[in-house]
Amino acid sequence: MTGNGDLFNASPNRSAAEIDRINRDFYGRFNYPWLPMMLPMLMDPTFLPRFIAQELGDFSGRRVPPDAQIWVAGCGTNQAVLTALRFPGAQVLGTDVSTRSLQVARDTADQLGLANLTLEEASLNDPLHHERFDHVICTGVIHHNADPERPLDMLARALKPDGVMELMVYNFYHRQHTTAYQKAIRLLSGGQQGLLETELAMTRDLIADGRLPGSMAGFLAAQRDLPEPAVADSLLQPVEYSYTVQSLAAMCQRVGLQLLQPCLNQFDKLSGRFNWDPPLPEGQTREAFDKLDDLARWQVANLLMQEASPMLWFYVQRQGSRPSRAEINAAFMAQCFRHAATPVRSFVLGVDQRYTESGHSGQWPVPALPADPVARAVHAACDGVTPMRVILDRLAMDQPELDRSPAGITRLRQVLTTPAFPYLVAA
Ligand SMILES: C[S@@+](CC[C@H](N)C(=O)[O-])C[C@H]1O[C@@H](n2cnc3c(N)ncnc32)[C@H](O)[C@@H]1O
Repeated sequence: MTGNGDLFNASPNRSAAEIDRINRDFYGRFNYPWLPMMLPMLMDPTFLPRFIAQELGDFSGRRVPPDAQIWVAGCGTNQAVLTALRFPGAQVLGTDVSTRSLQVARDTADQLGLANLTLEEASLNDPLHHERFDHVICTGVIHHNADPERPLDMLARALKPDGVMELMVYNFYHRQHTTAYQKAIRLLSGGQQGLLETELAMTRDLIADGRLPGSMAGFLAAQRDLPEPAVADSLLQPVEYSYTVQSLAAMCQRVGLQLLQPCLNQFDKLSGRFNWDPPLPEGQTREAFDKLDDLARWQVANLLMQEASPMLWFYVQRQGSRPSRAEINAAFMAQCFRHAATPVRSFVLGVDQRYTESGHSGQWPVPALPADPVARAVHAACDGVTPMRVILDRLAMDQPELDRSPAGITRLRQVLTTPAFPYLVAA
């Protein structure tokens, strides 16, 4: 049975097919996510696969091939399109239960002339694929299902034995207000599905009124200027589970998967909340924490940092050997790096809600240099022939903020060598 079942917001007796229909109606009414203003197409097909491999500790860059078969499962309106743009050498399949979301994705793909994307209407609750994909991306999807373990099992079966999945489920500690609000609004609207317009109208009134006491007031006020699909996605979601590191790892294990490494995502990057190393007193507490294995450390971080812990956004793989963070950090320190960049073509959303190519040639990453001053100094020192350990030894003299603890090295790795911060690639 799925952990934290008391956070489930629909009748526990509904079948997978009924919940699929509820999701189809919900995402037919609210387009999620909404259209981004700009869509960049990376011109180098090896660029992103190499950074994914690096985030997983494979500095040879081979873990996800540039011509990968990729499945974006529960792709919504644009995630499959974004993936096809980011992996121009791959074949991308996007599936969803929402006819409307797929139509939006299809329109966008047509405007961009994407040739490496296929879109299909299908539910993750039905068996679809067997060991077909090098890479599966499924973020924010399975927790909206009748029993999330079932779609996760389908995803595990679809992954090649050495494939990598990017998986995100809600973090229990991030969902206290959302779940409470969803339950309250469901009671206020009579507990029926299909009353979304009533729930939306009441939600607008509650947000505008602003007199609720306590932390709910600030939570609702923060929704005020968000687009309607974002408000609906967090406040009116008909079906949702949430997890802790422990319950997610246990669910993964039941379907033959294991957590590989945290995946630094755009939301945690934006909020700066991507650190799985809580501030701890030096001495016995810090030493005890550093001795734990990766999973236990993430659990402690999740428990101690609560709402300030990162999202539960992880790379997972079928069970087997996995490098530990200590091994990845050691490989990072031994590695020589060079500066990375790829040309991009940019498509811009016009007032007619259609994309056209901007005509300006650009480069990725943006910004071109790391914002963090220590990371910028390390980046400047990388010449393709000097190992990271030597560079950090040299910089330690005049960079007192340089932190060479396991947490400090991990952070440097994150802000220099991952898809979210693609500045350095192994030489
Ligand atoms: C919150 S949206 C996330 C969209 C996308 N993954 C992203 O991160 O932008 C959830 C999506 O999952 C889809 N979904 C939910 N259950 C599904 C299922 N069983 N099979 C396929 N798609 C599903 C919904 O229709 C919706 O488009």
